[in-house]
Amino acid sequence: MRTALSFDDVLLVPGYNDVGSRKDVSLETTVADVILDIPIIAANMPSVCEDEMAAAIGSMGGMGIVHRMQTILSQTDQITNMPYPVGGAIGIGADWAARAQSLIEMGTTIICLDVAHGHQERVLDVAVEFLLAFTDTPLIIGNIATGDAAARFDTLIPEKFQDRVALKVGVGGGSVCTTRIKTGFGVPTLQSVFDVCEALSERESSITVIADGGLKSSGDIVKALAAGADAVMLGSLLAGTRQAPGDIIKDDKTGLKYKVYRGAASYGAKAAHFGEAEYVEGAERLIPYKGDVKKTIDSLVEGIKSGLTYCGVDNLADLRGEAEFVRITDAGFRESLPHGIF
Ligand code: XMP
Repeated sequence: MRTALSFDDVLLVPGYNDVGSRKDVSLETTVADVILDIPIIAANMPSVCEDEMAAAIGSMGGMGIVHRMQTILSQTDQITNMPYPVGGAIGIGADWAARAQSLIEMGTTIICLDVAHGHQERVLDVAVEFLLAFTDTPLIIGNIATGDAAARFDTLIPEKFQDRVALKVGVGGGSVCTTRIKTGFGVPTLQSVFDVCEALSERESSITVIADGGLKSSGDIVKALAAGADAVMLGSLLAGTRQAPGDIIKDDKTGLKYKVYRGAASYGAKAAHFGEAEYVEGAERLIPYKGDVKKTIDSLVEGIKSGLTYCGVDNLADLRGEAEFVRITDAGFRESLPHGIF
């Protein structure tokens, strides 16, 4: 049995730094064929990304993917007149082509084929059909967890389409996921990123990679990018902000404010969309209200840029080339947290 490593199992080794300052660092990246100024994508979840979030993240150089747990009409309404890049999610159900068509007509930059277990025949079929039918639109396909899955997509997606494709990588690692508890399946997200990137680079594939699920800090984002991801998808880090969908809930006793963060397959999210939820594979929780998402993104971006200077590089391609990971022990992990304050 091999060992699979998670974000907290590893650290990056500081390198010689001749980068003047964080201001000299570029975080520009390409996902499918979409160029972003920052490698951050808002998760296609009902409590994370609708129009307000997509507009805010887009204006800061990242991108939001508007979720698909709503009618085609309401999803396309949210995308109409959106400035900057924006994504729209579709599924593999009977309406996938109609939804994609409407989203693209309304100006959606990129479509995200969103299936919890993306390594399946139907996803491959829909992906190839999409790429043949919508010849100018890039496609994110997910989620997958293994090098095997990446190799299959690389084999079956014709080479001429591959620079329009990104794979979304991570199964069961999300902070409101219960897939691993319910099914016993999943791979720590960082390990999946290592495995997928290794498989794609062995095949000299031009497919790009998005790390998705379980990223808790800018440090985790730097680790995912160093492992080979071209961008990260964030749920909990962006949930609870003003631009995340949902009302602010105030605790009258304490005065503290919250928002609800729901797994896309949780009871609340499914019941809101389908009117019922027979089987759920996600959790729901209150998340402290964080105010404007700009504060969150600014702080993440500063942390990522600082991370690149610890590696002595000023761009993401060099980070991938230069980064050295070490595996740490429990004692090392404890040392990484604030301590000695009692
Ligand atoms: P974070 O850790 O950023 O993760 O909150 C966001 C990612 O979690 C996935 N996701 C789910 N996984 N059940 C799951 O097993 C769910 O209900 C669910 N909702 C979201 C998804 O990949 C998302 O981007």
